[in-house]
Formats: sequence, C-alpha cells, structure tokens
Amino acid sequence: MTKAKIAGLGHFVPERVVTNFDLEKVMDTSDTWIKERTGISERRYFDPEKDTVANMGARASMQAIEQAGIQVKDVDFIILATITPDYFFPGSGVLMQRELGLEGIGALDIRNACSGFIYALSIAEQYVKTNTYKNILVVGAEIQSSALEMNDRGRAVSVIFADGAGAALVQATDDQDEAGILSSHLHADGRFAEELYVKDPGSSRKERLTKDMVDDITIRAHMNGNLVFKHAIVRFQEVINEALQANKLQVSDIDMMIPHQANLRISQFVQKQLGLSDNQVFNNIMRYGNTTAASIPIAMSEAWKQGKLSQGDLLCIAAFGSGFTWASSLIKL
Ligand code: UT7
Repeated sequence: MTKAKIAGLGHFVPERVVTNFDLEKVMDTSDTWIKERTGISERRYFDPEKDTVANMGARASMQAIEQAGIQVKDVDFIILATITPDYFFPGSGVLMQRELGLEGIGALDIRNACSGFIYALSIAEQYVKTNTYKNILVVGAEIQSSALEMNDRGRAVSVIFADGAGAALVQATDDQDEAGILSSHLHADGRFAEELYVKDPGSSRKERLTKDMVDDITIRAHMNGNLVFKHAIVRFQEVINEALQANKLQVSDIDMMIPHQANLRISQFVQKQLGLSDNQVFNNIMRYGNTTAASIPIAMSEAWKQGKLSQGDLLCIAAFGSGFTWASSLIKL
C-alpha cells in the first residue's frame, strides 16, 4: 500500500527582529512579563515592501523541495494553511502556486488556525494514500503583525503573535520504506469559536466593513487567554495520548515532540504531564513568537537543520487553537 512520508522540510522567517524591549517602547509591557508568561524574547515581523504570505510560503517550499531531491515541476498539489491570507479571496494557495511557477496544479487553502498545518498534513496523507498525488507541498504561512494593535489596549495579544512560514514536502512511498505518517487525529469544538477570533469583516453583517468595526476593534483578534490556556493543556495531552494508543506506542517511543508554539508555559506543562524529557521536546517560541499555522513546520524544519531530528525518528506534532481545534500526528521520519 502507498504511504505518505515527509521527504523535505523548509522554513522562512522575515529579517526584521522585534524584541520585547522594542515592544516596551510602544505599550505598557515588560521583557520580564512577556518572558515569564509566554517564554518569548523576540519575534519576526514582515517587511511590507517585500514579504507576502504567498512568497514566504514559496521560499520555505523551495527548501523543502530541494531537501526532497525533486524538481519544482514534480510538485502535483499544494495545501496552504493560513488565517492571514494576502487577499480576502482568492486564498493565498493560488498565489503561492503562481510564485512557484506551478500554474495548473490544484491549490487548497486551510483555515484551521493553529491546528491548520496538521489538518493540512492529514489531507495530504489521504491524497497520497489513495494514489491521487505523489508530491504535495504542505505549508503553514502567516503574517499576523499587520493586524496587531501596538498599544496598551492590544498588549495581551500583540506580544504573542508574529510572522513566518514553514513547509513540508509530502511524498508517496511504498511499503518497504519505514518512513511515513502513521496517523492524524483531528478535533474541533465550535462552541468556543468566539473565545479566540477575529469577528470582522465577516459576511453575516449588513455591511461588510464599517467605521464602528474599526473603532470598536472587532477587526482585531479577541482572545480569552486564560480559557484558551486551560483548554489547551487538557487537549494537547488527550490528543497526543490518542495518537500513541492508536499506534500501540508509548511516550518513551517518541524521539521528538513538537507542539504548536503558542506559549512556552503550555509546552512545558504538557511535557511534564506526559513525562517527556527535555531532549524529547523542541521549542523555538523564544525566538519566533506564536506564528499560528506556521509554527509547527518552522520548528520541524529548524529542528532538522539543527540535527535534533533525523531519519528514522518518531516525531509527534500536536496543536491547539482557535475554533477551538486541536490535532496530533505521529510521523516516522
Ligand atoms: O495559538 C493560539 C492559542 N493561544 C494560546 O494558546 C494562548 C493561551 N493563553 C496564554 O498564553 C496566556 O493566557 C497569555 C500569555 C495570553 C496571558 O497570560 P496570563 O498569565 O493568562 O495573563 P492574564 O491574561 O491573566 O493577565 C495577567 C495580568 C493582567 O493584569 P491584572 O488584571 O492582573 O492587573 C493583565 O492586564 O497581566 C496583564 N497583562 C499584561 N501585562 C504586561 C496582559 N498582557 C500584558 C502584557 N504586558 N503584554
């Protein structure tokens, strides 16, 4: 039977580094508060003159294609996870396809926020297993910084989110190859949709965009941080255990766990709950902040480049975020 494996990884983060000290200058916050509550020291913000969600995704994709040892023209489908598309429509998947010069192949956009990359990966896995496509680019890319309110009112959200892109080349392989995506588990609970959301501009209001929406900041992200945190630490553990049980594996079988980089305290809490050692978990939120759908593929790519992930490893990825949605995937590299 055909399986889906990850044949290449890549990531791109914008050049501009924004430290906690930079944020102190524009809002009532402190390096100490941000580090203690989130673990973040610095993050990257895009350059409006040159970076787009689509071209950042394409740059990450080129690395994944190169690592996989294939040509760009061999890619036969694109799945892009983002909640910050370059246009309201069409989705940025088609723009990324254009950047890569892959006119004609299908391009699908996924809007499952922090869980978006795992949702996207699970779709790629199904297409490959059913022999529909052979080389699928699965990308998470976000520009959050242009939506952040850089003042005291917006500080609870603004200090967390940031920009970047990560990519995986998902490839068909046969039974003999040990590598492959073992399983994906996807969940959602829409009762909590308004606990972490951007309300406007939405379609179900009389006017799509009004001055009131701008003044009342319903165009900005609203997050009930405490509630999200409480749900996250429960769901992360649940969905990782679900993956292990489905594959008859134990926590000790995991070589590396990469959680969505939402908050270092969440990652450390989950690590402790599961009894994972420090060298079984990879975090890079300290340097990149929370890049929503891009955080997992950026971390996977960076862990690989740093030699913390290698062929034959059992990788567990897990996410929780807006929706609420949560998901996990177990991958033999
Ligand atoms: O990726 C999507 C999923 N998102 C998440 O998983 C986020 C989950 N939630 C969190 O990470 C945390 O809830 C936050 C980091 C957002 C907030 O941390 P917290 O420990 O829950 O803080 P809090 O919201 O309870 O606020 C504590 C205090 C408040 O002041 P008072 O009421 O105690 O006087 C806030 O006003 O900290 C204040 N505060 C800040 N102070 C300095 C809130 N934001 C800031 C800030 N700088 N940026």
